Amino acid sequence: MVPDTVVETGPLAGAGKDARKSPGKSASAYAAALLDSERQAAAGAPGAAPRPVRSVGVIGAGLMASQLAMVFAQQLRVPVLITDLSQAKVDGALAWIAAHLEKLVRRGQLNGTAARELGSLVRGTVDRREYRNCDVVIEAVFEELSVKRAVFAEIEPLLRTDALLLTNTSSLSVTTMGHGLVHPERLVGLHFFNPVAVLPLVEIVRTENNDDVSLATAGSLALLLGKTAVLVTDTPGFVVNRILTRLFCELLHVIDNGADIELADHALDPLGLPMTPLTLLGFIGPAVQLHICETMHGAYPDRFYVSTSLAAIADARLSGYLDKSGTVLPEATALLPGADVGSPAPPPDADAIRTRILDALAEEVGLMLAEKVVAGPAEVDLCMLLGANYPRNQGGLTPLLDRSGASRRVWGRDFHPGPGFAQ
Ligand SMILES: NC(=O)c1ccc[n+]([C@@H]2O[C@H](COP(=O)([O-])OP(=O)(O)OC[C@H]3O[C@@H](n4cnc5c(N)ncnc54)[C@H](O)[C@@H]3O)[C@@H](O)[C@H]2O)c1
Repeated sequence: MVPDTVVETGPLAGAGKDARKSPGKSASAYAAALLDSERQAAAGAPGAAPRPVRSVGVIGAGLMASQLAMVFAQQLRVPVLITDLSQAKVDGALAWIAAHLEKLVRRGQLNGTAARELGSLVRGTVDRREYRNCDVVIEAVFEELSVKRAVFAEIEPLLRTDALLLTNTSSLSVTTMGHGLVHPERLVGLHFFNPVAVLPLVEIVRTENNDDVSLATAGSLALLLGKTAVLVTDTPGFVVNRILTRLFCELLHVIDNGADIELADHALDPLGLPMTPLTLLGFIGPAVQLHICETMHGAYPDRFYVSTSLAAIADARLSGYLDKSGTVLPEATALLPGADVGSPAPPPDADAIRTRILDALAEEVGLMLAEKVVAGPAEVDLCMLLGANYPRNQGGLTPLLDRSGASRRVWGRDFHPGPGFAQ
């Protein structure tokens, strides 16, 4: 059972203007109970018997595909096949996997024999006909709907009819991706997070077309990979990317309208998040995040802003707004559009920026719950704890939104109403 009341003193205290204390359970205990219960409950997928997974195909040999191939081989100990558009790309992925295995041996995490065995499980080719033997095929090609659909059109006739088809898309519609498939019921989203071996979350994206066996097989696969899976409906950005992108959009909007970059980036410091938003944006990469912002803006134009400065930074191929030490890049500052000339108001201070972002996140979570993207606030928190490393001592996200007063400001109630939150 997931506890429904939460409190914590600590960095959040005083974070919002009406942050409150409460005598209920601690947010850490809430997070611990949540993580335990979800491990037991596993994927939450339907009760149908999953199909066995004896071989896996990965389409693409880029950043995610290479990691997925490695994790599948390591955790499942089954043959894994990767393909890409060119043999050079495939060879690059195989070389990355070999180097990764060598690193594990050097660190004493794997012996030489085991590394050789694992290495021999992963094969690469440009001949896609070899997918005919795979029980599961996952695509991790460019985040473009047209590219993914073209790949599926080519792959589906090659697959066995009982093979499971998965997509690792970050934010595209899985349902739309499946238009044109002869068997859309077997296309499931399995959204892994980067780095795949480290982040324990997968979002299982269910479409209205899915059959129970496909969902059960996806859930069982997640479990075999040692991941915690959260079942989400097929909505833009699912959970983690929707929340993180809303956060980026709010932050970049105030920066584009004249707020000091460093002040804005550190406005959330009192929340104890794993890193500042602009540090995270540097890891994700400006071009990738811009693409996700555009996708989210396409779906929800009123709430997701496409930042002028982010577009300019991506266009200039800068690494982000910050250098590796976290200092604002002068080249990035030079690309800011400047204060909105139509707005006479001075730029907001850190408190106002933090309140704006927390309120936006409360709004987004409330809308997600209304849209039934996940079953409840606990699933949102699980996603943020495991997919974005949100702090356990804050209980993930919704306890933090309640304690800051954001939930009440936006919705007139807490996400976790109960005695723990009595005034
Ligand atoms: N990068 C991340 O942090 C991350 C995290 C989660 C999910 N994803 C998702 O994973 C997918 C892949 O992202 P990535 O970062 O690994 O991209 P990437 O650019 O590193 O790799 C994409 C690969 O797909 C290959 N490709 C393109 N068209 C192809 C085709 N028709 N057939 C075969 N291969 C083709 C490219 O040659 C390239 O090697 C995207 O959908 C992305 O949204 C990425």
